[in-house]
Parts: sequence; C-alpha cells; structure tokens
Amino acid sequence: MCGITGYTGMLNAKDIIVEGLQALEYRGYDSAGIAFCSSSGSSNKTITIKTVGKVSNLASKLASENIDTHCAIGHTRWATHGGVTETNSHPHSCGKVTLIHNGIIENYHELANELAETGRYPVSQTDSEIAAMLIDSLYDGDPHEAIRKASERLIGAYAFCIIFEDRPGSIYSVRCGSPLVAAYCEDGAFVASDIVAIIEHSKDYFVLPEHHIAHLSSEGINVVDYAGNTYECDMLHVSWDIAAAKKGGYEHFMLKEIHEQPDALLNTITPRIINNLPDFDEDGVPDSLFTGINRVVITACGTAMHAGMLGKLLIEKYNRIPVSVEIASEFRYGNPILDEHTLVITISQSGETADTLAAVRLSTELGAKTLSVVNVKGSSIARESDYVLYTHAGPEISVASTKAYTVQLSMMYLIAYRMAMATGKLSDSEAASRVKGLLKSIDNMKRVLKYDDELNEISKKIRKVENLFYLGRGVDYAIACEGSLKLKEISYIHSEAYAAGELKHGTISLIVDNVPVIAFATQENVYAKVISNVVEVRSRGAYVILVTSAGKRVDTTLCDHHIILPAMDEEFTPFCTAVILQYLAYFTAVRRGLNVDQPRNLAKSVTVE
Ligand code: G6P
Repeated sequence: MCGITGYTGMLNAKDIIVEGLQALEYRGYDSAGIAFCSSSGSSNKTITIKTVGKVSNLASKLASENIDTHCAIGHTRWATHGGVTETNSHPHSCGKVTLIHNGIIENYHELANELAETGRYPVSQTDSEIAAMLIDSLYDGDPHEAIRKASERLIGAYAFCIIFEDRPGSIYSVRCGSPLVAAYCEDGAFVASDIVAIIEHSKDYFVLPEHHIAHLSSEGINVVDYAGNTYECDMLHVSWDIAAAKKGGYEHFMLKEIHEQPDALLNTITPRIINNLPDFDEDGVPDSLFTGINRVVITACGTAMHAGMLGKLLIEKYNRIPVSVEIASEFRYGNPILDEHTLVITISQSGETADTLAAVRLSTELGAKTLSVVNVKGSSIARESDYVLYTHAGPEISVASTKAYTVQLSMMYLIAYRMAMATGKLSDSEAASRVKGLLKSIDNMKRVLKYDDELNEISKKIRKVENLFYLGRGVDYAIACEGSLKLKEISYIHSEAYAAGELKHGTISLIVDNVPVIAFATQENVYAKVISNVVEVRSRGAYVILVTSAGKRVDTTLCDHHIILPAMDEEFTPFCTAVILQYLAYFTAVRRGLNVDQPRNLAKSVTVE
C-alpha cells in the first residue's frame, strides 16, 4: 500500500524517482508525486509536483518541466485517508519539512488538534500531512532530533522519506511497521519500499531496522538508532535479475508470471531435496520444531490463506494432528488459544502484510513457535518469525498472485512430508516417492500451460456474466476458493466458491439458466459426490465447466466443457487446477478490457489493517 522511494547522488534524480515509482506501482496507483531540492545561489527550495492517476501521468507532467535535481523523493498512492485528489497526494509539506509516507497514523486526529494550537492546519484530509506538521513543529535545525521526538508521538505504521529545505542533498528515512530498504552504490544512495525500485542500480541492499534513522547523502548512508549510535545493517543480495521484474515480451505481468511457475517451483523445491528426501537443514529449520507440537495453526491473508487451506489437508493427512486455518485479520483479534506446543505457520508473498505480521507477533507473545513461508527476503514477517522457509518465486509484480501461490502450495507439501518424517509417521521410502510425485507435477503443470487456447475460448462465455460459482470438495474446494478470488480480483465478476456439498443449503437458489459453474472433480474419494452436485446444478440450467482427472468417462450432457487433466497422482492436481483458474481469470479480464495487472482498488502489499 503506497510505494515510496528516494534518491540522492550524481544522476538526474527526477528520472530515477519516476523509474522507481513505475516499479513500485503495484503498491498503489491512485496518484503520484515527487518533491526535489532546487538550489540557486545560497537559497534552497523544495518543489513538489503531483498528479492524480498513474505514475505515467506524473511522468508526462514532469516531461514538460526542465528539472535538474540530484536529490528527490517520490510516492505512488493507495488512498486510505482522504479521496483521490491532488491535494491528498504525497509529498506533503509543512514549513521546512516535506515527506512521503507509507502506512497509517492512527492518532492523527488527536495530533491535528494539538498542532492547531501551534497555528498549523492541514490542507489535505490525510494522516500523512499531520506527520509532516508534527516533524516541522519539532524541527529546530536537527533532523534526527525532530524525527526521534516525532516517533514518540506517532501511533500506527509508517515508513517516511523526509527532506528538510535547509538540508539540500539529504534524505532522512525512518520506519515502524511499513517496509523500507536502502542501498548505496557508485550511482548514489537509494531508499524504497521494495528492492524492485532499486535493483537497476544495486543488487546489494539492506533493510532499514525499525526505529532507526537513515541519513542518505551523495557520500553514503548513515544509520543510527534513536540514541545516535551508529548501526551496521546486514547486507542482503538479490539473486534475480532486473529482467525478472520486466514484462519480457508478455502482454501482462500476470501472463508472464503464470508461465514462470514451473521454474519458480523448481527453484523452490529442489534446494530442499537432499538424497531424494525433503530437507530443511539449509534453511535452519530443525526437526525438533515438528516433534514437540500437538497442533498447527496456519494464518495468512488472501491467496496465501488459500495455500494454507491445502496445507491443512496435507499436514492432517500425513501427521494426524489438528490444523486450523485462520484469516490473519480475524486471528489477531480473536483471542486465540496458543501455547508452546502450537506451531503457527504464516504464509506471505510480501512478508509485510500488516495482519499477518501482527499474527506472528501475537503468536510469539503467547509462546507459540512460529514458522513463516515468505517470498521476499529480509521482510518483516521473515525476520520476526522463529524460522523461515523462503519460496523462490522471484519478484511478483501483477497484483493478482499466481506463481507466489503455487510455490506456497509446494512448500505445504514439503512441510507436511518433513513433519511426518520427523515424527516417524512417514518412512524415508514413502517420503521419497511423494517427493518424486511433487517434482513430476512440474511437468504436468507445463502440460496444462498449453491449455491456454481452450481456456481463452471458455472465457468468451464467462466475460458476459454477472455471477459465477466455483465448486469442489476437499483439495478441490481449497482450489475453488482461489479460483473464485482470482476471477473477482481482476475481472470484477461476482463469484463464490462453494464446498460442493454445501451448495444446496442456500446458494443453489442462485443457479438459474446459464449461470456458469466451474466444478473441480479431481479427487477419487469424493468424485461421485461432486458429480452428483454437478447434476443438481445442471438440471437447474447451469453452464458447467467440469475439470476432472484423466480417464474419467463423463456424460457429455452433464457439462458444456470438460477439461481433462494429464494423468497423475491425484495428490498433486492443485498445480494443474491452479493454472486453469489463473487462465480463466486472466483471459476473462483481458476480454473485458480491464487492467489485468493493476485491478481497481487493490494493492499487492497490504501494509495497513
Ligand atoms: C493482497 C494481494 C494478494 C495477497 C494478499 C496477501 O490482497 O493482492 O495477492 O494474497 O494481499 O499478501 P501476502 O503478501 O501476505 O501474501
């Protein structure tokens, strides 16, 4: 939610900020703005330029201005406080202070009232402007002191990049909750919400620790704690290339990312296979984590939560211990019962989702052990969990998650198997055969990636409807939930996922002529049951798209389309059904002429509650 970036150095800061904002646009695209230092003789001025809409609007506005600056900050907004207007766009200024903000200041009302007594009144409706006013009220020439004192008053989440008019060439950054990474190289000093904004210049970076202040200048980056002690940050290295964050000839990032899944799976699974067995040694995850527990709680948001639903089924199948899946935003306020015998597994692509992070913190507080499955290295969730298993999907830019989801699924298999080996419930030979099946599923996924024409054809029908249903039982229900979310997210068609047996308890009243029903029937133990449910909707006029395993003879009057998966061990069908649901959502959204990669009102990294 909101992307922020800053640069100071020898290069043209305007160009660097615009490029950085373009890379960060997945975090929000309601409006964009830039502020930069302009010096003439001994006088320094901060100039701010903002536009409503996408970063490309800002770029066009800037193109007509002759801007020569070497120090600037920029922001792309996902609106929380105040509508989408130029006034509410960042940067915000007060006195000598200009800042950009990602996060939410919860006590902004109270602060605004206090600041009114000092004669400072906001012009926008944002919480962020109040932060600029607060820092200005505390500034007497010492940026560190003003920031430190302000942080004592601010309640909520924030990452700020701040410029002070009388400190040309310097950017000050601080964070609490919201992410910020920084890098220094021969091009200069960079700071951003995400490494994707910096990677063109540096693959080495560090995560700014919370409650520390980074001072960026053309000479370097100096990080200190609030007491003024210098802090040496641990350097991280990005293993992927800038090309991974570009479209590479595909029409949309989403399509590219769908096609990257086999590689992403290979990169995630193979480093964890030693002697044909799942192994987390390299990750530093000991077997003892799995032996002393009597319960698992999986918590996450959105797509990651759907990966957790499959995780529950797999862990329970192989380990026979109870697993619950909790939406992180409910879990954190739900007074959960946890103790040292509970393993809390959190799943997150970004590693920054505010509710999931809060779930990790709460679990730690209540004495549970925490294991996170995270895609972004060094992210808050990864750092705050006892153990982390990184997925290796590379950067995922499209807001709708695809490859990050399937690598999360693969990690659920590995965890279920390793846990069962650790507790003696799965023999080495059985585990090796499971792993073989898991690796084989990558080839099956490649086969299903070739179903694009068939699914594009089906999307012709779907694009015209207002309602749609996904059905499945067990593993297929977990997949149906993701299918429904994906379609809603990017095609704006209302959709619901139903556990097929539950349909008759209400929703079947919505099945009328030509309502599409996408039914997954890939699991033998419930196959006949799902088919009965398909018969029920069919006899009420539904337009049925039925997905089954290979070798199933299906009555042709039962469905309008029959999609047949390659022959495989049914445990691994999710990797194939995932591609089907992704394609359906993708082609439908394209046919409806929508912005597939940046759907209305959504952002990829949800750092607010
Ligand atoms: C947002 C994204 C989803 C994602 C969810 C959780 O809603 O649009 O794609 O699944 O957040 O994000 P996380 O980064 O924690 O996986």
